[in-house]
Amino acid sequence: MKKAKLHVLHSRDEIAERVRWLGERISQDYEGRFPLLVGILKGSFVFLADLIRHLDVPVEVDFVRLASYGDSMESSKEVRLTKDLEISVEGRDVLVVEDIVDSGRTLKELLGELARRGPRSLRSCCLLDKRHRREVPLEIDYVGFEMNEGFVVGYGLDWAESYRHLPDICVVETEETPSEECEPGEGVKS
Ligand code: PRP
Repeated sequence: MKKAKLHVLHSRDEIAERVRWLGERISQDYEGRFPLLVGILKGSFVFLADLIRHLDVPVEVDFVRLASYGDSMESSKEVRLTKDLEISVEGRDVLVVEDIVDSGRTLKELLGELARRGPRSLRSCCLLDKRHRREVPLEIDYVGFEMNEGFVVGYGLDWAESYRHLPDICVVETEETPSEECEPGEGVKS
């Protein structure tokens, strides 16, 4: 298990407020529709679970899994679909839900694949957007927070599978910016 030094970037209250705001916007845009929300495993499961409870429209939910990072903090160039959808997207209003977009390769790959399957509409939503790290052109329809440098964990995001359970989004600090150490499950020092 990785042991990291963490500090809070977005608190649970700040996240809740932003997710509510995203839910309101999405509900307005999809009024009268029955969208299919597609979560990208694993990181999006917490965000998606909270987001759907702020929607005023009926939805269906499905998941895909794309391999990209492994155990590293660096983005891989190769993206593979390792778990496919169980619900057809043909003719559906599809909203892809992602926790974080970095190089953009994962979301770009998935949007391309889903577009080939004939959805009625296709949009994307991410909680965290590292726009400055983009390696492929990509427009995201709904963005929670834009962020700059830093590797983040918590609220579904992991470091080598640890820290997904933290209720806040936290930056893993480097040796140059030391703070108190925190074990998974201890809570987080801000
Ligand atoms: C993370 C994140 C996105 C992807 C973004 O997933 O959840 O899916 O990386 O990176 P990109 O924009 O550079 O493609 P990860 O591979 O860490 O898997 P996980 O969701 O299971 O943690």
